[in-house]
Amino acid sequence: MIDAFNNFYKGKRILVTGHTGFKGSWLSIWLHELGAEVVGVGLEPYTEKDNFVLSKIGNKIEADIRADIRDGNKMKEIFAKYRPEIVFHLAAQPLVRLSYEIPVDTYQTNVMGTINIMEAIRATESVKVGVMITTDKCYDNKEQMRGYKEDDPLGGYDPYSSSKGACEIAIQSWRRSFFNPEDYDKCHHVSLASVRAGNVIGGGDWSRDRIIPDCIRALEAGKPIEIRNPKAVRPWEHVLEPLCGYMMLAQKMWERPTEYCEGWNFGPESESISTVWEVATELVNNFGRGELVDTSDSPSLHEANLLMLDISKVKTRLGWHPTLNIKQTMALVADWYKKYQQMDVYNLTVEEINHFVNV
Ligand SMILES: NC(=O)c1ccc[n+]([C@@H]2O[C@H](COP(=O)([O-])OP(=O)(O)OC[C@H]3O[C@@H](n4cnc5c(N)ncnc54)[C@H](O)[C@@H]3O)[C@@H](O)[C@H]2O)c1
Repeated sequence: MIDAFNNFYKGKRILVTGHTGFKGSWLSIWLHELGAEVVGVGLEPYTEKDNFVLSKIGNKIEADIRADIRDGNKMKEIFAKYRPEIVFHLAAQPLVRLSYEIPVDTYQTNVMGTINIMEAIRATESVKVGVMITTDKCYDNKEQMRGYKEDDPLGGYDPYSSSKGACEIAIQSWRRSFFNPEDYDKCHHVSLASVRAGNVIGGGDWSRDRIIPDCIRALEAGKPIEIRNPKAVRPWEHVLEPLCGYMMLAQKMWERPTEYCEGWNFGPESESISTVWEVATELVNNFGRGELVDTSDSPSLHEANLLMLDISKVKTRLGWHPTLNIKQTMALVADWYKKYQQMDVYNLTVEEINHFVNV
């Protein structure tokens, strides 16, 4: 594999929370391919068709641990045993609609879980870098025509979005109180950042109420694809885009710990920001079959209509920029779902990472 990070991850001990999930499994595979010693902490995968299960990445990494991030003592034990140098915290209850059903669990996992991870970082001397994954939905959504910037007010209407806004406030507090860049070298050796990606899509995601898994389930069942929010505008991006950004950021934080410990947006270029209907249409076109049905008249829970991210900061200060346009993104998303039943999924995922790095 081409190493876009100049051997930085080779031999590094990296703890990934949420490695059994969609983004975490891709990140674990990429880090493993780069020679990192990956320690994964998460719950059981959701389905037999998840990227984590099909790729068998759990058998390849240093440690594949089932543990609940709501258990703070357990997190400290795991950190003390494996002594990670870099932490990517992705574990969460990440679904807006499910958060209306289980708001308390959503808050416990997302907010207290994040605090437990920060406390484990604080208790473990080996950790130098913590990248905390929140979301574009952490901003107070005013349905405005411009993208949110990193210093826009935090908020969130539904329990998921607001729990991630609350995570951001907690991360800011822990950074000021315990990992303050002004006290670096005097009181601690930790660089802590938060990262906010857009709507992340890619192979191996089978989550409920997400547009790509909904489309694939309908396509595989030979049923029409019901689109409940066709006009909703979202900053879509292939999973490899933010992951590449998180990894670039962690490297910069390692090298210059006091310069990058803040919040960062990782979204697509504005021309790739599209509606749910447009994205579903592009997927159907890639498959060469499928019928879309607009079900927007049925009663629905509140979900944001318009959400865009401003990525000027990450482009100018980090040198990160999106690699794929929306057509290339949808072609790569479709590629995984077209091939996963015929191909070894670990090789398929690595092939897609190589393709991405070579674009
Ligand atoms: N997928 C997206 O569009 C998107 C966009 C922006 C931000 N995010 C954020 O990225 C992260 C990963 O999202 P994803 O789409 O891969 O989600 P996912 O649901 O596929 O994976 C979530 C992971 O968290 C783990 N987890 C959940 N509750 C846990 C608990 N109590 N203890 C331990 N582990 C627990 C799961 O086992 C799984 O490994 C989340 O923090 C999410 O909020 C996702």
